[in-house]
Order: sequence, then structure tokens, then C-alpha cells
Amino acid sequence: MPLNIIVGAQWGDEGKGHITDRLAHEAAIVARYSGGDNAGHTVTIAEQIFKLHLIPSGIIHPGVVCLIGNGTVVNPAVLLREMDALAARGVDIGPARLKLSGGAHLITPAHIALDRAHERARGKEAIGTTMRGIGPTYTDKARREGLRAELLADPNRLAEVLRHHVAARNEALVGGYGEEPLDGEAAVAEWLDYAARLAPHLVDGPLLIDEALGRGEMVLAEGAQGTLLDIDHGTYPFVTSSSPTAGGALTGLGVGPRMVERVIGVAKAFTTRVGSGPFPTELDGAAAARLRGTGQNPWDEFGTTTGRPRRVGWLDLPILRHARRVNSLSELVLTKLDILSGLAEIPVCVAYEVAGRRVESFPTDLHVLAQCRPIYETLPGWAEDVTWARRPADLPAAARRYVDFVAAGAGAPVSFVSVGPGREQFIELR
Ligand code: GDP
Ligand code: IMO
Ligand code: MG
Repeated sequence: MPLNIIVGAQWGDEGKGHITDRLAHEAAIVARYSGGDNAGHTVTIAEQIFKLHLIPSGIIHPGVVCLIGNGTVVNPAVLLREMDALAARGVDIGPARLKLSGGAHLITPAHIALDRAHERARGKEAIGTTMRGIGPTYTDKARREGLRAELLADPNRLAEVLRHHVAARNEALVGGYGEEPLDGEAAVAEWLDYAARLAPHLVDGPLLIDEALGRGEMVLAEGAQGTLLDIDHGTYPFVTSSSPTAGGALTGLGVGPRMVERVIGVAKAFTTRVGSGPFPTELDGAAAARLRGTGQNPWDEFGTTTGRPRRVGWLDLPILRHARRVNSLSELVLTKLDILSGLAEIPVCVAYEVAGRRVESFPTDLHVLAQCRPIYETLPGWAEDVTWARRPADLPAAARRYVDFVAAGAGAPVSFVSVGPGREQFIELR
């Protein structure tokens, strides 16, 4: 005991990698439970910046076992590239440290080609996916035609299944979308190499976690994406194809709710979104540029995975209340407070106005959401640089008031405030 779950409270990129790294030293296992390399999690340690896509952010802590769980989708080529890049920087990614659950699903070149073709076919209605093959892989999983990681332990079966899979998906690519067919034999040849390298990392993920919990160790579940990208609880259809919310941690890792102690929602001190779909507090022009940054700093709001400029806006409390509700958050971690330093006033969305009525809860119907006009309360800003703050008393009164306002408005206590990307740039509030 216990399982502690880290979830994104907004549309992703809240700083999940940063707080995962902060808490990893308390964990025996850090496990990714959903999504794939659509995620980009940044861990900054002194001058070193690690951008992780599939490998849990706990990998930077020696001694912590990292698991890629059943609920994830894994592109073996990307995983091996990420492993090689970490190994080149001296990080141990051997089979004792990095484990891949046999029930995870594999992303194939056909899934990536279908993601592209599907997005292109949607035209103006495109989701704005990361083009990593995420949607088609979860589609194949749901229609019971997916390839599971356990195949990597059986080269003959892998070759047969992959050959059949590419041939079948070529029909959709060529017949449905008018795209070029993929070369199945080339894929098989590459994948046999991947299998040889990844097979030693295969484990039964739920068993590994159960053993750790049975020994009384802490398991940290590292979410990817965010609550509003959840296929059930997000801004459907502008979502990802998995369950980034706390429930996804349970099914994705194979653990029941009785094991859960903390559900930690990570929220940025403002709001960002990559890809299409409604965004009530979105800003443009100079106000947006102020929050986004120019791209000069590693933490400026440009996608970790795709490099796309992120859409930005003020903090939205109906979103955080929605995240508290659908995840049963025990607490919030508020990141990037430092970015707000120097603003004279900071608007925070406290509710919406829809057709002349005040609405307190986040609407699940996209058409209603599109009509929502934010109702703002404006808080006083602070001039001081807070990046050096380490204790609550180090924060200017206006910054403390902002944090308290967020906690009260979201209905969850703030346990950590983050004031910079560095490992030590946290203020623990309880
Ligand atoms: P994730 O996907 O939720 O793990 O978040 P990303 O890594 O995609 O994006 C968060 C970005 O903000 C990264 O560049 C982090 O290093 C950076 N970051 C996290 N917390 C803070 C903070 O408190 N202040 C600043 N300035 N940057 C932060
Ligand atoms: P992390 O873990 C932000 C978005 C994409 C797109 C939608 C669907 O770094 O927070 P997909 O490729 O998943 O089918 O794209 O979801 N998206 C993310 N946005 N952070 C992420 O991950 C994301 N992963 C997917 O931009 O709008
Ligand atoms: Mg990210």
C-alpha cells in the first residue's frame, strides 16, 4: 500500500513529469497507465533536461522500477530510441529497471499511416492529433484486433500477426483513403530486431504491482494527457483515445480502488491546450504571447512532442472542479506560478455565462461549451520573482492569495506549488 495517482487536471502539459520526478524517490515503482508517445513529459535536473514520451519520469531516480502498463500503447521503435538516448546519458534502462507489461498494445506503422490519413480526411474537422498512431491503435484494441506487447516474446507469431495486420490495414489505407500501401515484409524485418531487444523487459504488470503493494511499498501512477482529453470525461470528440483520468490508472495498471491513497491533480496556474476544440478562456494577441513565451526558454508553451505553439488562456475553475469530481482528487499541484509574476492583475474564470444564465459546472456537451462565456474575477498580481521561493512564507501575499483562491474555487487543497522547472523548485504546502 498504497497506489498514488498523478493526473493532468486540464488539457495536458500541466507539469506531470516534473511532479512525478519530485515524488518518485518515495516510490518503488513509477508506472505509466495510459496513452503512448503522444505524451511529452519534461524533467529538469540542474542543467540537464530530459524529455520523456513513453518511459515513466521515475527513470531518472536510480533504484526506482519503471513500468509501462497494460493501458498504454507503445511504438517499439520510439521506445527503443528513447531507451538509447537515456542510456547515452548514463541512465540505467536495463530490464531490472524498465519493464513493459505484456498487455500493452503495440503501435504499428499502419496505425501511424491511418492516423495521418484519417486526420487529412477530416479536413477542417481534424482533431489535431500528434500523428503518433494513438487513435487507430486504441481502435484496434477495442475491436479486438490489436497486437499486444507479449507478442515480442514469440518472434514467429509476431511475424505472422504483423504480416496479417499490415495486409488488412493496407486495404483501408488504399481502398478507404487512396494512400500508398505499406511494405509488410520490411515491417516484419524491423520488428524482429525490436522484439529481440524488448523481450527481456516484458513482465506481467499487474502482478509486479500487486507484489510491491503487498510488501507495503508505494506505487506511483504517472498520468499522461489530462482530464479534458479523456475519452469519457473530456471535450469529446476533441480528446485522445484513452482514459487519462484516475479510473484509467486502475484499469490501465490492473489495480482496484481499495489500494488508492492520493489522487494528485496537476494544474498549471493558467490554461493551455494543443490541438483543436473549444477553450473558453483562450486568449490571443499580446496577452497570449505573454503567457506562451517566445520559445526561447525550455518551459515556454510549445509542444514537447510536436513543437506546436500551445493555445493559452487564463485559469478556469469550472475545469478544475470538473477534474476534482471525475478523479476524486485528494489535492492539486499548481505549476508555473512563476510565469504569472509581473502581471498587474490576474483574471480567473469562476463560472460561465450561457444564454444569460450563470453556469458553475463544466458542460460535457461540446455545443453548450462552445457557447460558454467566461465570468472572471480579477485578482491582484505580484511583481516579485518567485522562482527562488521554497517555503510558503517566501511567496508574496498576492501569490499566496492566488493559490488559496484556486484551492477554494477548485474544492481541493493545493499540496505543492511549483515555481520553476528545476527539481528543487517546489513549495510544499502541507
Ligand atoms: P507534462 O506533459 O504534464 O509532463 O508537462 P510538459 O513537460 O509537457 O510541459 C511542462 C513544461 O513546463 C516543461 O517544460 C516543464 O519543464 C515546465 N515546468 C513545469 N513546472 C514548471 C514551473 O513551475 N515553472 C516553469 N517555468 N516551468 C515549469
Ligand atoms: P502530455 O502527457 C497535450 C492532444 C493532441 C490532440 C488530442 C488527440 O504531454 O500532457 P492524439 O495524438 O492523442 O490522438 O491527439 O490530444 N494530446 C495532448 N495535448 N499534452 C499531451 O500529453 C497530449 N497528448 C495528446 O494535441 O489535441
Ligand atoms: Mg507534455
